[in-house]
Amino acid sequence: MLDAWPLPRLIAHRGGGALAPENTLAGIREAARRAYRAVEFDVMLSADGVPVLIHDQVLERTTDGHGRVCDLSFAQLSQLDAGRRFAPRFAGEPIPRFDQALELCHSLGLAANVEIKPAGGTDRDTGRVVAAWAAEFGRDVPIVLSSFSLAALEEVQTTAPDLPRGVLFGDPPLDWLGIVQAAGALSMHCAWTRLRPVDLAAARSAGVALVTYTCNDPREVERLLEAGVSSVITDALDRMPNRGAGDL
Ligand code: G3P
Ligand code: MG
Repeated sequence: MLDAWPLPRLIAHRGGGALAPENTLAGIREAARRAYRAVEFDVMLSADGVPVLIHDQVLERTTDGHGRVCDLSFAQLSQLDAGRRFAPRFAGEPIPRFDQALELCHSLGLAANVEIKPAGGTDRDTGRVVAAWAAEFGRDVPIVLSSFSLAALEEVQTTAPDLPRGVLFGDPPLDWLGIVQAAGALSMHCAWTRLRPVDLAAARSAGVALVTYTCNDPREVERLLEAGVSSVITDALDRMPNRGAGDL
């Protein structure tokens, strides 16, 4: 099963990690510019059901908009500035549509860990739409769809059963393997500080890939990979060893 793991060992978090505005095309370009071969980003639905890249359910932290993402249409969201809050030189950077991010990944030769981030109560709709768009627009991009929402992942399985799925946890519960296997998932994703040696052993014997986030210490990244973690998500794109190769 692990032979089929489609992602490289290092993944840039929210596009360009700490080096560019999160969940933007500028961030994805930054990851590629630094020779990374995969990005993680978050996808949520607009009020009219268009999947867009954004982490928070509200707009204030990362954009010049106000209120909830799920209350604005894509036309409204696309008018917002998602770059200036990070740095003035990114002013005018828009909230990308999911297909735009996938097309950019394809043109840059990047794999994608797409995190499905349903706004409250939209788990099934978000899972279904993200899976359908990933199947249509991400055909040539190695993809893993992950989520904290098991309901969203169930919809992915129904909509695009061949797309690899990962179950996200903060702190994995003791029965995480049963949950991952019941979801038919390829991978378990968790906070790197919460991974226990027993989890590594369980994953290895079950053939489940492990992904840890968000580790910014190069020595810890190396330790995690040596211990058997398949991929590590990082914000510190400029601090990882051998980053010129894009992969440890
Ligand atoms: O996909 C791993 C990681 O991105 C999950 O946490 O809050 O950064 O989306 P968050
Ligand atoms: Mg995420």
